[in-house]
Order: sequence, then structure tokens, then C-alpha cells
Amino acid sequence: PDSKVLQNLVEDFSYLNYKQNLENVKIVQERLKRPLTYAEKLLYGHLDKPHEQDIERGVSYLKLRPDRVACQDATAQMAILQFMSAGLPQVATPVTVHCDHLIQAQVGGAADLTRAINLNKEVYDFLASACAKYNIGFWKPGSGIIHQIVLENYAFPGALIIGTDSHTPNAGGLGQLAIGVGGADAVDVMSGLPWELKAPKVMGVKLTGKMSGWASPKDIILKLAGITTVKGGTGKIVEYYGPGVETFSCTGMGTICNMGAEIGATTSVFPFNKSMVDYLDATKRSQVAEFASVYKDSFLSADEGCEYDEHHEIDLSTLEPYVNGPFTPDLATPISKMKEVAAANGWPFEVKVGLIGSCTNSSYEDMTRSASIIKDAASHGLKAKSIFTVTPGSEQVRATIERDGQIATFKEFGGVVLANACGPCIGQWDRRDIKKGDKNTIVSSFNRNFTSRNDGNPATHAFVASPEMVTAYAIAGDLRFNPMTDKLKDKDGNEFLLQPPSGVGLPPKGYDAGENTYQAPPVDRASVEVVVSPTSDRLQLLTPFKKWDGKDAIEMQILIKAKGKVTTDHISMAGPWLKYRGHLQNISNNYMIGAINSENDKANCVLNRVTGEWAGVPEVAGYYRDHGIKWVVVGAENMGEGSSREHAALEPRYLGGFAIITKSFARIHETNLKKQGLLPLNFVKHEDYDMIQPDDKISILGLEGFAPGKNLTYEVTKANGEKWTSELSHTFNQEQIGWFKAGSALNRMAELSGK
Ligand code: F3S
Repeated sequence: PDSKVLQNLVEDFSYLNYKQNLENVKIVQERLKRPLTYAEKLLYGHLDKPHEQDIERGVSYLKLRPDRVACQDATAQMAILQFMSAGLPQVATPVTVHCDHLIQAQVGGAADLTRAINLNKEVYDFLASACAKYNIGFWKPGSGIIHQIVLENYAFPGALIIGTDSHTPNAGGLGQLAIGVGGADAVDVMSGLPWELKAPKVMGVKLTGKMSGWASPKDIILKLAGITTVKGGTGKIVEYYGPGVETFSCTGMGTICNMGAEIGATTSVFPFNKSMVDYLDATKRSQVAEFASVYKDSFLSADEGCEYDEHHEIDLSTLEPYVNGPFTPDLATPISKMKEVAAANGWPFEVKVGLIGSCTNSSYEDMTRSASIIKDAASHGLKAKSIFTVTPGSEQVRATIERDGQIATFKEFGGVVLANACGPCIGQWDRRDIKKGDKNTIVSSFNRNFTSRNDGNPATHAFVASPEMVTAYAIAGDLRFNPMTDKLKDKDGNEFLLQPPSGVGLPPKGYDAGENTYQAPPVDRASVEVVVSPTSDRLQLLTPFKKWDGKDAIEMQILIKAKGKVTTDHISMAGPWLKYRGHLQNISNNYMIGAINSENDKANCVLNRVTGEWAGVPEVAGYYRDHGIKWVVVGAENMGEGSSREHAALEPRYLGGFAIITKSFARIHETNLKKQGLLPLNFVKHEDYDMIQPDDKISILGLEGFAPGKNLTYEVTKANGEKWTSELSHTFNQEQIGWFKAGSALNRMAELSGK
């Protein structure tokens, strides 16, 4: 570390590393001989081996050293359980855990929080004790939403962080690359392994002009989503630049980066600028701002003449508010068109609920601007027509808007202030005003609006908009309302136009930190015991998987020859199974229950070749494991596409699987399988898939000579005893072969660290 400038006020061991970052960038500049974008500089500044790494956007896989890992409570459970099974004494990279996803909104802040603490006690106790043991910062329930806490405390210009949540990119508003990942990636970094990412392409978005009136930063990303669609950002980093960047707040930039997830972007980022300095100062991190300023022209800005793979331009002077939805965040309608579009589509006009806040839009600026509209309406004697809820993103925001009077304004308006947590954004909402199945409209300042996401009702038409627009809708109660042109009637029947919102980016009296909701890891961690009840149905300690026995696998059963698409949802379903994300045995009961068996075209119905009985996939897999019978799965194309959830790889390993043989894999799932000590293998001849019968047995031969780039031989034994052989290819490198031999990547880590 250079000059020993601390990254934040919370930890006394993490330092800014700009000198090293810049050295790495210089090495890459020298090698590539071309100007780099801001995003590229941040990425390449964190390369594990800048001298030798292949670097081609959209092609090479980069090995990176992130500065930190952030986990939310739903995904942290399995990540920490896996980390624990490696037997390492503490995490190798700064890590924090945030309790925000498990709190249900029912009646309002304090009561909802108390209920959640009781309901999830064992999960919270486990996370708190594991964090204390392994030197992880723990943010208790009530502290706020992961991305807001990261922005307020940990994010800094030039950083690379990963987080086990898809809206991690929120921190791009503070000039860093923040990328959402699956738990397995987090575990790698926690254990000290480099993190692998396909070198993203870079989409440049030039901002010109200046916003005014009802337009807000949210409208930039709502408009962009309409242009790119939900897939447009896949494999790309969105990099904003141009004179417009200097015209709005750091938290506004956070909102834009947050919702880059809705266009599928790897992440989004703004270059280091004055608003970031102001925000760092306001959150008591002037030392970071000062040090970043030293590196502004070298590391923390794009090289002149850098080129983007794709390019868009947005003129902020002509930007109008957008309302996106229903059911998808890229269905973008400018407010001037909403009347006709809503009517043409038959969307319910009455706005039942307006919800502001969440990780996307709960800054002090958002709150003051919404409050200004409410005050204006109140001066005409109006209150909320719709139900109105406010979700502060953090305890700090909540305490500050309580002190400064905005909470009182919301309450007088008829609003309910919910806990500092995800709540209705993730479906943690005990909605009572309508019945399930009732067609209705809600408008939120959140980021996602997929069917049923907020209230579990597929007939709810959810729209996303800026908090200012949501507030205006709550006053008018009608989706057709355009606050810029449509007049409201005051209490005496006189018409008036709402004033455009006004607010301040940062609290003039400074932030009020509120209640202390942080648990720092203790100095003496050796004596900390991690609490997991052996009778729990939600949490279960992991036992390290067994090492490879050094022998070829002879005549394994085929658990299932799957037909058609097998996504991670088919392999490990979500929904009600979410509850068991910290309990490998229980969640393994969903293994492959969505995959279609080629033998009978049914899901979750396979023949147990030993007993001759038809049963569920997990049951038969468990039977084979308990009787010492190795098994394989046979699949077709792109096995494991979808999410990066590591449960889809942990489950087959737990149930005794040895190899997964397909025509092809989705890359992340393939890597996840390798990490858990399984063999993901590909048919060299795709027609082998058709030749294999579900009652065949499969032997994988020559494993002793398992080597990178060298095919493996397999032998198929038919029910009548006939045999044929063919070849399987694989993508294992030497290090990954070590994972297979050790039984898992974590076992290998433990071996290497001498545990
Ligand atoms: Fe939570 Fe919704 Fe953000 S689930 S992390 S508030 S996207």
C-alpha cells in the first residue's frame, strides 16, 4: 500500500492501493499500445498478472484481485458455509455482510424489524458469529440496504469490488467498478484466489446538457433501458462520460449505475468527478477524496482517444421523466406519452400504491425532492390519494431525514415509513389492500418490476419511475397524470400545477449516523464460536467433500439423461426453496426436479436401476450415494444457463455425483462444477448423446493421466453387456485438475495453506 491512506473509517486494515493500480495500468498501456477507457483502467489496474495476462475485450478471461467483497444475508449463508469448510482462519480480502433481504414490510419500520429479528434469529446469529470469527464486518438488520451502506462507507474511486447481489453496480456512482457475482466467486476471493471475469466490452454513454424541472438521474437509465433493452448491456460495462456528468449528484450517479443491472450490464461506472469529492467529504472520507485527486489525471480518468465498442448519447437538457413497465424495466414510456400508451394497453389507471426509496433511490436528495412535492401539495390542502410507502436505504438516511423533517412530511401526507431494508422490492411485502389476482397498478422508485416481484400478484402492473414521479402519482392517484401539464384541484376546487421538485444533494447539517448498527470483528477471534444448531432446517455446516480416490470410475449409473433445456432453475429451483439456501441437505431435495427425463418425458421421475422403482431425482441420487454407487448426469446443450448460483453444483456433489456429461455447458455453471470437485465433460462427438441409453453404464478411463487439453476416454456398457468407447473433452487447466483431485477448490486451498 502507498502512503497508508485508509479506504474507509470502518476498518483499520484496508488501504488505498492507487500506486499499484497505476503501475498495472502502465504495464497494460505499454503492452496494448492504445488508449484505455476508464472502466478498462480500473479493471486492468486490478489484474493479478498484468505482464502475462491475455487482454482482449469480449474474448479473454481476466484474473483479477478485487479490493473487497460485499454479501447480503440471503446469499451470504452458503458463501460463508463454504468458506468455513476450507478451514482458513480468516478471510483474505475485506468482506462485509449486510442484513437487508429477510425483513418483511407489514406495518412499518420498528415493528417489522422486531418481527424479522425474531423470525430469522438463527440466520442472523449464524452470520453475526461467523463474521466475528472470520474477520468480516457485520451490518445488523436495521442498518440498511447493502448497496447504500457500501456507497456510504466502503466505495471509493478506482476500486474493484464484487458483491453477491445483482445491484452491486450501484457503487459505480462513486467511480468504481462494482460487480454482482454468485456466492462461489465470493468464496474464491474470500479465500485468496484470483477472481475470473471475461474481459467485458465497453459501452460509452455520452451525457451532454443539464437536467431541469421534473427530470432526474433515474430518467437517464430509464431512457437508456428503452434504447438498449434488457439484454443490451450483456457482457459490457456501461461507461458514462461527457460534460453532462459534472452536472448532478454522486447519489444520482449511484441510481443510474444501480439500474444498469436492468439492461444486463456487467456493471456501470462514472469517472471520478467533483460530485464524488463532495459526497466523500459529506460522508467523512475527505482523505480518500484528496488522495484520489492526486491520481485523477493518471489512473482515475479515461485516456484521451479511447474507443468504445458501442456508443450512445443522451442530451440531459431535453430529458423528460420516464415511466417504465409494466412487467419489464425496458418498456420505457416518456411521461408526455403515458396517457395514450396506458389507454391503448388497457393498463389500470388508478395508482393503488406509490413506493419510494430502496437501494436504487433513497438518497437524501431523493427524499428532499419528494418531500418538496408533498409540501407543495399540502399547501393546497392535498394528501396522498394512493397508499404511499417510504423505504430509507440506510439508518443514516433514515436518521437524517427524521432530524430534518422529511419523515414528518411523509407521515402527514399519509405515508408509511418502512424498515431500512429491501422489503417490497424483493417481495417481502404483506400487501393487504387488494386480493391476489386483482388487476391493479403500483408505481415504485425501485429497479425491477418483473411479474409478481413486489407483491406476489401476477396481475399487479408494476411501473418504475423516479421518486419524484412516484410522489406525484401518489398525489394524483392516476397513471395518466403528467405533473408538468396536468392541473390538480385544491381543497376548494381551484386548479393548480404542482411545482417541479427541489431538493439538496447533501444534508446541509451533515448526515446523522443514527443508531450504531455495525458489529466490527473482535481482535480475539480464536475463541468465537460459530452458532449453527444441528437441528436447524435452514442452516447446516458443510463437511469437506472427499478427495478423489485415485481410481477410474467404473460402470457408473446414469441418474438422468435430461432432454432439452436444463437451466440453473431446472437444476436448483428458487421460489420456496430460497429458505434452504443455507442448508445443503435440505436444498438438495430440489436437485434437477425441473429437468425432463428423456426416458419418460417427465420431470422429477427417474428409474432407480437397483430397486427397479420410479422415484424423484434427488431421492434416487441419494440412494446411489448411500449405496456407494457413483453416478453421472447426461445432458444436451448449454447445461446450467441462467444464474450463477453455486447450489446447482453443490447439490450433485453432495448427492454423490461424479461427472456431468453434456454437449456443452454454460460457462459459469461449468466452473462451479469444477470448483465442487465434479467433472464437467463434453461429448467430442455430439451424436454420442443420442446413442447413450438411460440404462447404460458409463466408465471414465485414464483419469490418472488427466491433463489439460487431453481428452478422456469413456466406455459405455449396455444393458446386454455390449460395450463401446468414445472420447470426452474438457476445459480443465492444471490448477482445476488440482481441485478435482483434492475433492473441491476449497479443499485444494486448504491443502495449499497447510490446513
Ligand atoms: Fe434489495 Fe431491491 Fe436493492 S432487493 S438490494 S432493494 S434491488
